[in-house]
Amino acid sequence: MSTEPPFRCHSLGAGDQSAYRIHTFPALRHLLDNAGDARILAVGAVDGSNRPVGLALGHPSIAADDGQWAQLLSLYVQPESRGAGVGSGLLSAFGALCLERGLPEIRATYMTGQSSTATLERFLASSGWSAPEGRMLVIQATLESIKAAPWMKTFALPDRMEVVRWLDLTEQDRSGIRDSQREQAWVPADLYPFDHEANCEPVTSLALKLEGRVVGWVINHRVEGVLRFTCSFVHRRLQRMGRILLLYNESVARMPLAGLQVGMWTVPVWHPAMAAFARRWMAPYATRFEETRGVRLRLAQPPDNHAHRNGGNTATNPTG
Ligand SMILES: CC(C)(COP(=O)(O)OP(=O)(O)OC[C@H]1O[C@@H](n2cnc3c(N)ncnc32)[C@H](O)[C@@H]1OP(=O)(O)O)[C@@H](O)C(=O)NCCC(=O)NCCS
Repeated sequence: MSTEPPFRCHSLGAGDQSAYRIHTFPALRHLLDNAGDARILAVGAVDGSNRPVGLALGHPSIAADDGQWAQLLSLYVQPESRGAGVGSGLLSAFGALCLERGLPEIRATYMTGQSSTATLERFLASSGWSAPEGRMLVIQATLESIKAAPWMKTFALPDRMEVVRWLDLTEQDRSGIRDSQREQAWVPADLYPFDHEANCEPVTSLALKLEGRVVGWVINHRVEGVLRFTCSFVHRRLQRMGRILLLYNESVARMPLAGLQVGMWTVPVWHPAMAAFARRWMAPYATRFEETRGVRLRLAQPPDNHAHRNGGNTATNPTG
């Protein structure tokens, strides 16, 4: 009598992994083409007939101040194979691969508001992950849905202020930001504009100047036909005066020139003033209002090689 397990998990190496492409997001499929690379963590699950049924995909992350960990970018089990332990088996094998590579923690981020969110959160809770923590508010709106928002009314630009395209800043403007930040940090590290400017959308990415000095910016990117407002900030002294609205307003007004109708704002929850503004003034005009959540799993060294509880076996050690 056959005792073949219903599925088997194995780390994916070099070679053709195209059968797994349908198990992850289009933007991540290129990782499968290089699955043998040390910078990629890929674990596949196959059924008893060797057909791929699921995939866990990630990469190692090294933050100078934050140790080493693995970012799980995607975890997917095909619908007809769910509820049979494949997801748990994939995570176990992924964790074992992380430990082999010297990575004692896995982190993942996901977006709420999907049909799978409740299932995913139960799955994570049952697998020992930390409680989800809110990270970013994600607000999507169309030009139509925000046209009635009070902050979309036309503001007169105060004296001594001007709005220019981000790409039109001179080298002197740019060194002014760098030098003043070095002298007295006034920009939060995660909103430092030079970290976000690559490939920015040229028409709608703007800078706010006060008496010739750059005091704020909105830096945007075109992502699959949507304008993502990636990084926006104005100097603390101007925040309470709502000057960032000048920038949003001008940026939105320029969207048709860039051929864009839909905008997406991502607001870090650790910037409370921005998050409060988004909840109060943007949510009512949004076509989508969700958040991304972060979770972590601390990996324990397994005591021995035991098969997964649901009958699957793993090619690498499960983490228990
Ligand atoms: C989340 C997902 C990976 C789970 O895979 P799976 O193979 O069905 O999970 P398992 O069978 O290993 O389930 C493990 C535990 O998760 C929980 N769980 C899984 N599916 C569940 C469901 N539909 N309802 C309630 N709990 C569920 C249970 O606690 C289960 O433990 P149990 O079997 O002892 O009750 C799978 O549902 C999936 O691919 N979803 C869509 C994609 C997704 O959301 N990916 C993650 C973001 S990138």
